[in-house]
Amino acid sequence: MCGIVGILGKGAVASHVVDCLHRLEYRGYDSAGIATLENGHLEVCRAEGKLRNLEIKLSRHPLNGRSGIGHTRWATHGKPLERNAHPHATRRVAVVHNGIIENFRELKQGLLDLGVSFISDTDTEVVAQLVDRELLAGHAPAEAVAHVLPRLRGAFALAFLFDGQDDLMIAARRGSPLAIGYGEGEMFLGSDAIALGPLTNRIAYLEEGDWAVMTRAGVEIRNEDGVIVERAVQIVPAGALLVDRGNHRHFMAKEIYEQPEVIGHTLGHYLDLSSDTVNLPELPFDVKGVRHISITACGTALYAGAVAEYWIERFARIPVSIDIASEFRYRETPLADDGITIVISQSGETADTLASLRYAKACGQKVVAIVNVPTSTIAREADAVLPTLAGPEIGVASTKAFTCQLATLACLAVALGRANGTLSADDEQRLVHELMETPRLMSEALKLGPQIEILSRTLAKARDVLYLGRGPAYPLALEGALKLKEISYIHAEGYAAGELKHGPIALVDETMPVVVIAPHDHIFEKTVSNMEEVAARGGQIILVTDPKGAQAAHVDAVQKLIVPEMAATICPMVYAIPVQLIAYHTAVIMGTDVDQPRNLAKSVTV
Ligand code: G6P
Repeated sequence: MCGIVGILGKGAVASHVVDCLHRLEYRGYDSAGIATLENGHLEVCRAEGKLRNLEIKLSRHPLNGRSGIGHTRWATHGKPLERNAHPHATRRVAVVHNGIIENFRELKQGLLDLGVSFISDTDTEVVAQLVDRELLAGHAPAEAVAHVLPRLRGAFALAFLFDGQDDLMIAARRGSPLAIGYGEGEMFLGSDAIALGPLTNRIAYLEEGDWAVMTRAGVEIRNEDGVIVERAVQIVPAGALLVDRGNHRHFMAKEIYEQPEVIGHTLGHYLDLSSDTVNLPELPFDVKGVRHISITACGTALYAGAVAEYWIERFARIPVSIDIASEFRYRETPLADDGITIVISQSGETADTLASLRYAKACGQKVVAIVNVPTSTIAREADAVLPTLAGPEIGVASTKAFTCQLATLACLAVALGRANGTLSADDEQRLVHELMETPRLMSEALKLGPQIEILSRTLAKARDVLYLGRGPAYPLALEGALKLKEISYIHAEGYAAGELKHGPIALVDETMPVVVIAPHDHIFEKTVSNMEEVAARGGQIILVTDPKGAQAAHVDAVQKLIVPEMAATICPMVYAIPVQLIAYHTAVIMGTDVDQPRNLAKSVTV
């Protein structure tokens, strides 16, 4: 969480820093700030709330410095108040920080004992004060930072600006990503390359433990042993830096409607249509020998994994265990010698997912990562990477990344089945053909938009909403409930339809909408029984199904959202569309901040 920007520019940088921060708002948006050097001296401007508030302040008191750092915050230590907003500065140094300094309490106590006083409740101010003391003791800025970094524990990215040093910025990375951007006589720093999109496409990524001394002429990067190192400069393709809403009101809407296209790209990456086969990259283990698969992830990515459990067990007959990354990493679960671990992450930076990857590797397992950001830490540390080609996802509530994760996992499941001999070449051919139908069917499902918009007016009045599904539609029910909670703030729960009678049915009355996700499959009749149980208690049913399901559902008080009939395998991807649209339209009616819902952040690196 939190986004960092730094610019050593040719002219005034404040407006560019703010532009870059806008591109990082997905990382946090509860306060923001900027520090520049005005006539050689540090000046800080900070504001609570969205970046807009910072912009208003800056329009009243413009900053004109040519060197600047900026920050958009997701609060960890200290409430989202102005005094806790970054940059934190002393007279000599200003710092912005992403991550957590775990030993800040003991460091702070040491400083308090020396008579240092603190203004904020943050861990970050401790870093500013520690560097300040080193500068006060007569050390040069780089020396001061080099003395302080080894004293910090935790995962962080830091950027420093120094009073009187117009051509200097120092950055450090331990656990949280940092990208260095190269310009002509200018240098840039950002939490990711997207932040720097309008300024440069020449990017080098700092590696774990690196710290960098930047001037307008270039950068000197050292690793954690203090040895000067080279980090390759890459040209980031323009498409990867594009961030705009197109004709849509929200990024989330744009990303929902983009799905047929990006699913097409992702499937195109893994399916070979000339031979009707799935083509995965070379994997660093013998696929035939895999006897167990552990899947771990957070949030929406976890639910993609939960769908994959059904696919992998069905196609490859390999038992799968799925676990929330924040549980998996601490549970010290024994991992089978003949097993592999799959981690799933849009950002590739989620702290718990990364820690789970490291745990699995430490247990001697090979780790396959399904990630959307190919330069991310998870992508770099995994033994094999299966990229999702969703493109940058900006809306905090994940949509297209989810369905691209599903598409990738479906291909992986087919490849495992083929390698294991549980799928024949004919089965593989049939599944490839079915998968290739997904983009078209998603486009059909998107036509439900206007109907869902009307239906959402009722949902927006609900206090609680229940989502039910069986089989792979069960994790989709969990995802539907998560999506609604995240962006409309309506309480929602996802349940396996068969569990309804074991508790949640007690909640059902005439005020309770129940969204039932049920393609007309071999367990459809069972779900109809559950719907009857709901209808008998006056619950309002919204049934997401296909034409056959719509005809067979003889239950009172049902509103139907009908998608075309399709092969069972691709249902989770196509049915995700109405589920996402329900959350989106309900949130729009509720008037919430759809792309930046309260208290959330897209990339949870703490
Ligand atoms: C946050 C986001 C979710 C996302 C989860 C995992 O909670 O708000 O949308 O699913 O993190 O993120 P990842 O980048 O690892 O997929």
